[in-house]
Amino acid sequence: MKSKSFILENFGCQMNVADATELNQLLKADGYVESSDETADVVILNSCAVRGSAEERIYGRLRHYEALKKKKPFTLILMGCVAQKEGEKVLAKSPHVDMVVGTHQKSRLPELLKEHHHSIDDSQQDVSYANPDHSGQKVFSQLGDYEFTPPVPSLRYPFKADVTIIHGCNKYCTYCIVPYTRGIEMSQKSALIIENVKGLVDRGVTEISLLGQNVNSYGQDNGDITFAELLYELNKVDGLRRIRFLTSHPKDFTSELIDVIRDSEKVCKYIHLPLQSASDGVLEKMRREYSYEHYRNIISELRLKIPGIALSTDILVGFPYESEKDYIETLEAMKEIRFDTAYMFKYSIREGTESAGYPDIVDETEKIRRLQLIIATQREITKEQNEKDLGRVEELLLESRSKNNPGELLGKTDSNKPVVVALDETMIGGYVPVRLKALKGNTFQGELLPQAVTG
Ligand code: 5AD
Ligand code: SF4
Repeated sequence: MKSKSFILENFGCQMNVADATELNQLLKADGYVESSDETADVVILNSCAVRGSAEERIYGRLRHYEALKKKKPFTLILMGCVAQKEGEKVLAKSPHVDMVVGTHQKSRLPELLKEHHHSIDDSQQDVSYANPDHSGQKVFSQLGDYEFTPPVPSLRYPFKADVTIIHGCNKYCTYCIVPYTRGIEMSQKSALIIENVKGLVDRGVTEISLLGQNVNSYGQDNGDITFAELLYELNKVDGLRRIRFLTSHPKDFTSELIDVIRDSEKVCKYIHLPLQSASDGVLEKMRREYSYEHYRNIISELRLKIPGIALSTDILVGFPYESEKDYIETLEAMKEIRFDTAYMFKYSIREGTESAGYPDIVDETEKIRRLQLIIATQREITKEQNEKDLGRVEELLLESRSKNNPGELLGKTDSNKPVVVALDETMIGGYVPVRLKALKGNTFQGELLPQAVTG
């Protein structure tokens, strides 16, 4: 029998990337092959619902595939956060979707597909298919016990892997849809994480990224070890070179954790710590549960204990009740802290969240103005922060060929900065020492140092 082919389109955060990579492997293990063009037996969209624009994009892609379905039949599946958030509503808007699979049903997808194809094959033979569990059911979006699927090496970078350690979020920031789409926090057992990471290293992985909506609450739901203790344990895994993690929440970012980051040579000296706003009034309305002062203290402790640490953040402007004064406080905070990079967003109303009911909204043109100004300000800061790094000696993990110069490779420093260096592609996946010589945009030009090159 000819293998069935699939397309898996992914949208959104690194957690979705991890989910899609794991699913890709599950499907291949089930005999599916990945399609290299737009024709496939199964098309799966792994969706993101964090902002309205992300959701609109998904409906756009669904319309595209629904139009293709008129020419050739295939199975169209929506999974991820929009599937979880919208459930039945997806079918009203996109009636040609065959299955809507929520975030907690991901690991069941291969089984659901099998049942679906059985029912199609049988109905084509004009025999009614008796599915004992869910014949005719199209929406699978129950939130129950989250079942982790085993982490696998990245498809593009086989020496790297994402490892989801905690799923869901209990914070309920008033603007955020994630606790509703991914459910409450559930941690993977630490013994399994460690075993899985050792397995990844045996398969050639040297860099892992530990993922969670809030990695700092790791272990609190199941009484396991703390996140700091998990880092300490993973730092001992032989053959592993780099440990990254995201996302951290300022409320739970402890001094103990800072000490472990400092003392663990494999833990990268780069922290992503979303600030969102520097106005205490806005932070309170967002239910972030910290003050700007608290946030600043964490940054000072990080910089004091780990000189040269790179920092990035998320900023959300135009939140209801954000006055010009509140906004300026955030802008000033960015100039004071001087992040290496920042991910900046304008507030998008998400139905079902608490802030969707807040009356004091900021109008769209004003939101855009505020966003543009912080982006321009951060661009300058990023440039200046990078210039300060010139001359530094860094170790690079060589990840891919440079897009612009075929004779060069693109790598990342421990602090997550991109560097190109003249080397041939047999070196991809290796680590080399470089001196940061020059900057082109935000990419460094590196000079290879004559020390031993390690693979
Ligand atoms: N509107 C705009 N940005 C949002 N984020 C989360 N929810 C919203 C929303 N409703 C941003 C936050 C978060 C990042 C992942 O996305 O800054 O940290
Ligand atoms: Fe959303 Fe807040 Fe949870 Fe992050 S911590 S996923 S912003 S609710």
